[in-house]
Amino acid sequence: MFDATSAAAYGSILDDIRAQGLFKQERSLGSPQGPRVSIDGREYLNLCTNDYLGLAAHPEVIAAARDALDADGFGMASVRFISGTHEQHRAIEHELTSWLGTEDTILFPSCFDANGGVFETLLDAEDAVISDELNHASIIDGVRLSKAQRYRYRNRDMPDLNAQLTEASAAGARRTLVVTDGVFSMDGYLAPLEDLCEVAEGHGAMVMVDDSHAAGILGATGAGTPELFGVRDRVDLISGTLGKALGGASGGYVSGRGPLIELLRQRARPYLFSNAVPPMVVAGSRAAIAIARAGVDARAALAANAARFRGLMTDAGFDLLPGEHPIVPVMIPDAEEAVAMAARLGELGVYVRAFAYPVVPMGKARLRVQLSAAHTLDDMVFAAEQFSAARAG
Ligand SMILES: Cc1ncc(COP(=O)(O)O)c(C=O)c1O
Repeated sequence: MFDATSAAAYGSILDDIRAQGLFKQERSLGSPQGPRVSIDGREYLNLCTNDYLGLAAHPEVIAAARDALDADGFGMASVRFISGTHEQHRAIEHELTSWLGTEDTILFPSCFDANGGVFETLLDAEDAVISDELNHASIIDGVRLSKAQRYRYRNRDMPDLNAQLTEASAAGARRTLVVTDGVFSMDGYLAPLEDLCEVAEGHGAMVMVDDSHAAGILGATGAGTPELFGVRDRVDLISGTLGKALGGASGGYVSGRGPLIELLRQRARPYLFSNAVPPMVVAGSRAAIAIARAGVDARAALAANAARFRGLMTDAGFDLLPGEHPIVPVMIPDAEEAVAMAARLGELGVYVRAFAYPVVPMGKARLRVQLSAAHTLDDMVFAAEQFSAARAG
């Protein structure tokens, strides 16, 4: 029974969240997602979208989704293995397989679900999973669901990975899977995949990469970090999302070794027990993948925007985490100041969010800027100028 005591107890949890400055206030867009958005009737330069290639409102993506809506209907009203598999699903799985250079691909309702289904299905109590400490929440939760022995290594620290692998094999692990984000979303740092594959191979371990923040934007054809680092045939599993650069709608996938994908289709619970992604979403995502795959110019524009913004901000004396990724963390160590700075930028017409503990380590608060190929170089100048103005207060 939800009574007055329950209301007071939950109310005090919410009060605690507010008191710690962790209450997430949602802003509602009154426009499509993109480099400029409208919020409460005002236009903002948007520096906090995962729409890295500007495909969320791309006319070809919208047209493909609309055509599929007319041709294929609104929803599937079934999980995949009953009557929920549409030709669109098989087509996107084949296209992802061909693009990523793997053997097979399975589409999930989201990448959160993809990561939620992998570890429990492929590993049991005799096995081990070795996970980077900064991996995404969906990997952490997915690992928790599995009976495998769990090991964590320090972020991108290959000697520590080696030590954890040694420990796992000394404990008698039968099969071992090393899992890492391809790009760490709070820092924009890339996993050192060449070294990681070498260390894993030295222990006979399999490798899985969550490439959600790389698919479409890194590598010559946008196939992500395995392509960028030249280790496509050494990575056994890649997970990723359709919810960021690839049109930004929803859906996630796992792509990789044939028997692993086949087993996921038989046993992964978020695949078996959740409704199929609507065909129109799949069709729009397929159009987005085709654009991303051929999107050499868009990737060049994105890289140019990131380089320009990083250069201007460094010249203006801001402390950035180094790198080349379009995730550009602007470090404002004090959490309250970071939140205040985001608010001042909002007044100046720039939409950006502050992240503080516990999402990032204590004392490492930041404004996480995310750039898009749909931004212009002038937008980069405007953004950097507003950061300077907001700093001056
Ligand atoms: C690294 C990583 N993995 C997985 C996900 C989850 O993706 P989805 O939104 O498709 O569930 C995200 C999204 O925030 C992510 O950043």
